[in-house]
Amino acid sequence: MADRPYIVGNWKMNGMRAMLPEARAIDRAAQRLMKVEVALAPPFTLIHAVHREVEQIGVGAQDCHAGRDGAHTGDVSAAMIADAGAKFVILGHSERRAAHREDNDMVAAKIAAANAAGLDIILCCGESLETRDEGRAEDFVLGQLRHALAHVDAAGERLTVAYEPVWAIGTGRTAAPRDIAAMHAAIRTLLVESFGAEEGAQVRILYGGSVKPENAREILALENVDGALVGGASLSAESFLGIAHAAIGDEDA
Ligand code: PGA
Repeated sequence: MADRPYIVGNWKMNGMRAMLPEARAIDRAAQRLMKVEVALAPPFTLIHAVHREVEQIGVGAQDCHAGRDGAHTGDVSAAMIADAGAKFVILGHSERRAAHREDNDMVAAKIAAANAAGLDIILCCGESLETRDEGRAEDFVLGQLRHALAHVDAAGERLTVAYEPVWAIGTGRTAAPRDIAAMHAAIRTLLVESFGAEEGAQVRILYGGSVKPENAREILALENVDGALVGGASLSAESFLGIAHAAIGDEDA
Protein backbone atom coordinates (compact mmCIF):
# COMPACT_ATOMS: atom_id res chain seq x y z
CA MET A 1 0.00 0.00 0.00
CA ALA A 2 1.24 3.45 -0.89
CA ASP A 3 1.77 5.93 1.96
CA ARG A 4 -1.53 7.63 1.30
CA PRO A 5 -4.55 6.24 -0.54
CA TYR A 6 -5.13 8.04 -3.84
CA ILE A 7 -8.78 8.81 -4.61
CA VAL A 8 -9.39 10.21 -8.08
CA GLY A 9 -12.73 11.45 -9.39
CA ASN A 10 -13.43 11.05 -13.10
CA TRP A 11 -16.28 13.37 -13.99
CA LYS A 12 -16.49 12.01 -17.54
CA MET A 13 -18.81 14.15 -19.73
CA ASN A 14 -20.43 15.76 -16.71
CA GLY A 15 -19.94 19.17 -15.21
CA MET A 16 -20.93 22.71 -15.99
CA ARG A 17 -19.54 25.78 -14.26
CA ALA A 18 -22.36 25.31 -11.76
CA MET A 19 -20.35 22.28 -10.50
CA LEU A 20 -17.46 24.47 -9.34
CA PRO A 21 -18.80 24.79 -5.78
CA GLU A 22 -18.73 20.97 -5.61
CA ALA A 23 -15.04 21.00 -6.56
CA ARG A 24 -14.42 23.69 -3.96
CA ALA A 25 -16.21 21.65 -1.29
CA ILE A 26 -14.11 18.60 -2.17
CA ASP A 27 -10.97 20.70 -1.96
CA ARG A 28 -11.86 22.24 1.40
CA ALA A 29 -12.54 18.82 2.88
CA ALA A 30 -9.34 17.42 1.37
CA GLN A 31 -7.38 20.08 3.20
CA ARG A 32 -8.48 18.43 6.44
CA LEU A 33 -7.94 14.89 5.13
CA MET A 34 -4.19 14.90 4.85
CA LYS A 35 -3.95 11.11 5.04
CA VAL A 36 -5.63 10.84 1.63
CA GLU A 37 -4.48 12.20 -1.72
CA VAL A 38 -7.50 13.48 -3.63
CA ALA A 39 -7.70 14.47 -7.29
CA LEU A 40 -10.34 15.35 -9.86
CA ALA A 41 -10.44 14.92 -13.62
CA PRO A 42 -13.17 17.27 -14.87
CA PRO A 43 -14.01 17.66 -18.56
CA PHE A 44 -11.56 19.75 -20.62
CA THR A 45 -13.85 22.78 -20.38
CA LEU A 46 -13.52 22.93 -16.59
CA ILE A 47 -9.85 22.10 -16.06
CA HIS A 48 -8.70 25.67 -15.82
CA ALA A 49 -11.62 26.79 -13.70
CA VAL A 50 -11.24 23.87 -11.25
CA HIS A 51 -7.48 24.44 -11.12
CA ARG A 52 -8.12 28.07 -10.11
CA GLU A 53 -10.76 27.09 -7.60
CA VAL A 54 -8.75 24.54 -5.58
CA GLU A 55 -5.64 24.62 -3.43
CA GLN A 56 -5.10 21.09 -2.21
CA ILE A 57 -6.34 18.54 -4.69
CA GLY A 58 -4.73 17.49 -7.96
CA VAL A 59 -6.44 18.39 -11.23
CA GLY A 60 -6.13 16.30 -14.36
CA ALA A 61 -7.65 15.53 -17.74
CA GLN A 62 -9.51 12.47 -18.98
CA ASP A 63 -7.63 12.14 -22.27
CA CYS A 64 -5.25 13.94 -24.60
CA HIS A 65 -4.35 13.76 -28.27
CA ALA A 66 -1.13 12.00 -29.25
CA GLY A 67 0.12 14.87 -31.40
CA ARG A 68 1.89 18.05 -30.27
CA ASP A 69 -0.19 20.50 -32.24
CA GLY A 70 -1.52 21.06 -35.73
CA ALA A 71 -4.54 20.30 -37.86
CA HIS A 72 -6.60 18.12 -35.51
CA THR A 73 -9.98 19.76 -35.33
CA GLY A 74 -11.66 19.24 -32.00
CA ASP A 75 -8.68 17.62 -30.31
CA VAL A 76 -6.71 18.80 -27.29
CA SER A 77 -2.98 18.19 -26.81
CA ALA A 78 -1.17 17.16 -23.63
CA ALA A 79 0.66 20.50 -23.60
CA MET A 80 -2.66 22.36 -23.78
CA ILE A 81 -4.11 20.55 -20.79
CA ALA A 82 -0.88 21.11 -18.85
CA ASP A 83 -1.15 24.79 -19.76
CA ALA A 84 -4.72 24.81 -18.40
CA GLY A 85 -3.45 23.55 -15.05
CA ALA A 86 -3.67 19.76 -15.35
CA LYS A 87 -0.98 17.76 -13.57
CA PHE A 88 -2.03 14.35 -14.85
CA VAL A 89 -3.99 12.69 -17.60
CA ILE A 90 -6.11 9.53 -17.60
CA LEU A 91 -5.22 7.37 -20.61
CA GLY A 92 -6.68 4.18 -22.02
CA HIS A 93 -10.04 4.42 -20.27
CA SER A 94 -12.31 1.65 -21.53
CA GLU A 95 -14.94 4.17 -22.65
CA ARG A 96 -12.37 5.72 -24.99
CA ARG A 97 -11.11 2.32 -26.11
CA ALA A 98 -14.71 1.38 -26.99
CA ALA A 99 -16.24 4.63 -28.28
CA HIS A 100 -13.13 6.03 -30.00
CA ARG A 101 -11.55 2.72 -30.98
CA GLU A 102 -8.38 3.51 -29.06
CA ASP A 103 -6.10 0.51 -29.33
CA ASN A 104 -2.91 -0.21 -27.41
CA ASP A 105 -0.77 1.56 -30.03
CA MET A 106 -2.81 4.72 -29.74
CA VAL A 107 -2.63 4.59 -25.95
CA ALA A 108 1.15 4.18 -26.26
CA ALA A 109 1.37 7.26 -28.49
CA LYS A 110 -0.65 9.26 -25.97
CA ILE A 111 1.66 8.11 -23.18
CA ALA A 112 4.58 9.51 -25.16
CA ALA A 113 2.71 12.81 -25.59
CA ALA A 114 1.95 12.99 -21.86
CA ASN A 115 5.61 12.26 -21.05
CA ALA A 116 6.71 15.07 -23.32
CA ALA A 117 4.31 17.51 -21.64
CA GLY A 118 5.48 16.50 -18.16
CA LEU A 119 2.10 15.11 -17.13
CA ASP A 120 1.66 12.26 -14.67
CA ILE A 121 -0.30 9.36 -16.09
CA ILE A 122 -3.22 7.29 -14.84
CA LEU A 123 -3.17 4.31 -17.14
CA CYS A 124 -6.41 2.31 -17.31
CA CYS A 125 -6.76 -1.36 -18.04
CA GLY A 126 -9.55 -3.88 -17.65
CA GLU A 127 -11.25 -6.86 -19.23
CA SER A 128 -14.74 -7.37 -20.60
CA LEU A 129 -17.14 -9.81 -19.00
CA GLU A 130 -16.68 -12.18 -21.93
CA THR A 131 -12.92 -12.21 -21.41
CA ARG A 132 -13.35 -12.84 -17.68
CA ASP A 133 -15.83 -15.66 -18.29
CA GLU A 134 -13.33 -17.26 -20.66
CA GLY A 135 -10.74 -17.21 -17.88
CA ARG A 136 -8.46 -14.84 -19.78
CA ALA A 137 -8.83 -11.70 -17.63
CA GLU A 138 -5.31 -11.67 -16.24
CA ASP A 139 -3.61 -12.37 -19.57
CA PHE A 140 -5.67 -9.68 -21.24
CA VAL A 141 -5.02 -6.99 -18.62
CA LEU A 142 -1.31 -7.75 -18.38
CA GLY A 143 -1.13 -7.67 -22.18
CA GLN A 144 -2.68 -4.19 -22.25
CA LEU A 145 -0.23 -3.04 -19.61
CA ARG A 146 2.89 -4.61 -21.13
CA HIS A 147 2.22 -2.77 -24.34
CA ALA A 148 1.75 0.55 -22.55
CA LEU A 149 4.49 0.29 -19.94
CA ALA A 150 7.17 0.00 -22.61
CA HIS A 151 6.44 3.66 -23.45
CA VAL A 152 6.40 5.06 -19.94
CA ASP A 153 9.32 7.39 -19.18
CA ALA A 154 8.78 7.93 -15.50
CA ALA A 155 7.27 5.27 -13.24
CA GLY A 156 7.31 5.55 -9.43
CA GLU A 157 4.74 8.06 -8.25
CA ARG A 158 4.47 9.68 -11.69
CA LEU A 159 2.61 6.62 -12.94
CA THR A 160 -0.64 5.22 -11.60
CA VAL A 161 -2.39 2.12 -12.95
CA ALA A 162 -6.17 1.87 -12.70
CA TYR A 163 -7.69 -1.60 -12.96
CA GLU A 164 -11.29 -1.19 -14.07
CA PRO A 165 -13.17 -4.29 -15.18
CA VAL A 166 -15.29 -2.99 -18.07
CA TRP A 167 -18.41 -4.76 -16.82
CA ALA A 168 -18.15 -3.02 -13.42
CA ILE A 169 -18.06 0.53 -14.77
CA GLY A 170 -21.27 2.44 -14.16
CA THR A 171 -23.21 -0.77 -13.64
CA GLY A 172 -23.40 -0.94 -9.86
CA ARG A 173 -21.52 -4.25 -10.02
CA THR A 174 -18.10 -4.55 -8.46
CA ALA A 175 -15.60 -7.34 -8.88
CA ALA A 176 -15.31 -9.84 -6.02
CA PRO A 177 -12.65 -8.80 -3.48
CA ARG A 178 -10.76 -12.02 -4.18
CA ASP A 179 -10.61 -11.25 -7.91
CA ILE A 180 -9.57 -7.64 -7.32
CA ALA A 181 -6.76 -8.75 -5.00
CA ALA A 182 -5.56 -11.38 -7.49
CA MET A 183 -5.50 -8.92 -10.39
CA HIS A 184 -3.75 -6.22 -8.38
CA ALA A 185 -1.11 -8.72 -7.24
CA ALA A 186 -0.49 -9.74 -10.85
CA ILE A 187 -0.21 -6.07 -11.87
CA ARG A 188 2.23 -5.41 -9.03
CA THR A 189 4.41 -8.30 -10.18
CA LEU A 190 4.47 -6.89 -13.70
CA LEU A 191 5.35 -3.40 -12.42
CA VAL A 192 8.24 -4.77 -10.37
CA GLU A 193 9.48 -6.77 -13.37
CA SER A 194 9.24 -3.66 -15.54
CA PHE A 195 10.67 -0.99 -13.26
CA GLY A 196 12.54 -2.84 -10.51
CA ALA A 197 11.56 -3.49 -6.91
CA GLU A 198 11.66 0.06 -5.60
CA GLU A 199 10.04 1.98 -8.45
CA GLY A 200 7.62 -0.82 -9.23
CA ALA A 201 6.38 -0.78 -5.64
CA GLN A 202 5.83 2.98 -5.77
CA VAL A 203 3.40 2.87 -8.68
CA ARG A 204 -0.09 3.16 -7.27
CA ILE A 205 -2.69 0.68 -8.43
CA LEU A 206 -6.26 1.98 -8.22
CA TYR A 207 -9.43 -0.05 -8.51
CA GLY A 208 -12.33 1.43 -10.47
CA GLY A 209 -15.85 0.35 -11.31
CA SER A 210 -18.89 1.32 -9.23
CA VAL A 211 -16.87 2.34 -6.18
CA LYS A 212 -19.11 4.11 -3.68
CA PRO A 213 -19.00 4.96 0.02
CA GLU A 214 -20.76 1.69 0.91
CA ASN A 215 -18.22 -0.63 -0.74
CA ALA A 216 -15.07 1.49 -0.65
CA ARG A 217 -13.84 0.36 2.72
CA GLU A 218 -13.71 -3.32 1.85
CA ILE A 219 -12.12 -2.71 -1.56
CA LEU A 220 -9.55 -0.21 -0.32
CA ALA A 221 -8.45 -2.50 2.49
CA LEU A 222 -7.27 -5.11 -0.01
CA GLU A 223 -3.58 -5.64 -0.53
CA ASN A 224 -2.11 -3.72 -3.48
CA VAL A 225 -5.21 -1.53 -3.77
CA ASP A 226 -3.72 1.93 -3.36
CA GLY A 227 -6.84 3.93 -4.07
CA ALA A 228 -9.83 4.24 -6.36
CA LEU A 229 -10.81 5.79 -9.67
CA VAL A 230 -14.38 6.93 -9.13
CA GLY A 231 -16.89 7.91 -11.80
CA GLY A 232 -20.53 8.39 -10.80
CA ALA A 233 -19.89 8.73 -7.08
CA SER A 234 -17.39 11.57 -7.66
CA LEU A 235 -20.11 13.90 -8.92
CA SER A 236 -21.24 14.91 -5.48
CA ALA A 237 -18.86 16.09 -2.78
CA GLU A 238 -20.78 14.07 -0.22
CA SER A 239 -20.38 10.66 -1.85
CA PHE A 240 -16.85 11.34 -3.11
CA LEU A 241 -15.72 12.43 0.33
CA GLY A 242 -17.44 9.38 1.82
CA ILE A 243 -15.05 7.29 -0.26
CA ALA A 244 -12.07 9.38 0.86
CA HIS A 245 -13.07 8.84 4.48
CA ALA A 246 -13.54 5.12 3.91
CA ALA A 247 -10.05 4.97 2.44
CA ILE A 248 -8.57 5.76 5.83
CA GLY A 249 -11.03 3.58 7.71
CA ASP A 250 -12.82 6.63 9.11
CA GLU A 251 -15.84 5.60 11.17
CA ASP A 252 -17.65 8.79 10.18
CA ALA A 253 -17.71 7.73 6.53
P1 PGA B 1 -18.02 4.37 -12.16
O1 PGA B 1 -16.86 4.76 -13.23
O2 PGA B 1 -17.44 4.66 -10.79
O3 PGA B 1 -19.15 5.28 -12.51
O4 PGA B 1 -18.30 2.93 -12.35
C1 PGA B 1 -15.51 4.48 -12.97
C2 PGA B 1 -14.65 4.89 -14.15
O5 PGA B 1 -15.08 4.68 -15.30
O6 PGA B 1 -13.55 5.42 -13.97
